[in-house]
Amino acid sequence: MLTAYDASFAALCDRVGVDVILVGDSLGMVIQGHASTLPVSLADVLYHTRCVVAGTTKAMVVADLSFGSYQASAEVAYASAAAALAAGAHMVKMEGGEWLAPTVAFLTTRGVPVCGHVGLQPQSVHALGGYRVQGKTQDAAGALLSDARALTLAGASMLVVECVPRQVGAALTAAVKVPVIGIGAGPECSGQVLVMHDALGIQPGRAARFVRNFLLERDSIESALAAYVAAVKDGSFPGPEHCF
Ligand code: KIV
Repeated sequence: MLTAYDASFAALCDRVGVDVILVGDSLGMVIQGHASTLPVSLADVLYHTRCVVAGTTKAMVVADLSFGSYQASAEVAYASAAAALAAGAHMVKMEGGEWLAPTVAFLTTRGVPVCGHVGLQPQSVHALGGYRVQGKTQDAAGALLSDARALTLAGASMLVVECVPRQVGAALTAAVKVPVIGIGAGPECSGQVLVMHDALGIQPGRAARFVRNFLLERDSIESALAAYVAAVKDGSFPGPEHCF
């Protein structure tokens, strides 16, 4: 999985064999220049989803529901998810733990495929006190496993897990029967995701520990993305230096 926000990059992802394109609300940071994902609107996500879908013929497209577009109630979430599917997404992603399970059940029983997002949840950055590694204590890791189980029992067919110790990423992947896509969660996850701009070394300041610049020593964006796909598939990314 890799994020993309427009038709050209989506087409490149398709060409190099990225299985899943995430239209992430990270667009608020890398496209719009905000300090967090919180200002992103559902309309922004829908616009970029349409752009990505227009450039894609093979990859599955997941639309990230924006902050405020699903938390209030299952009905609100359903309306947002329906708009995302109408924009061409095949699945929606929502951040949240056990509390979100009833919403996931509401959506999945009504035909909306759902990807959960546990661990570091950037839409909760202020509640979490910053972008910090999650699941570091035994209690916190146990709570994360309960979150993952609750979401999958409610019908989530994929999970993203962000910024957790490698052992927690591995335990979580073993605990559920759906693909677990890690970002800063170690190589034992079923798959990996990176923000496109991170994978190409386009970020102001110091890169996060879990990021690798695949454009280094390559002469095209296409070869960098192909290298990302190859490194995820052969297990060489993430390496120990990318893990918590
Ligand atoms: O918005 C996003 O790009 C994401 C990924 C970092 C998983 O949620």
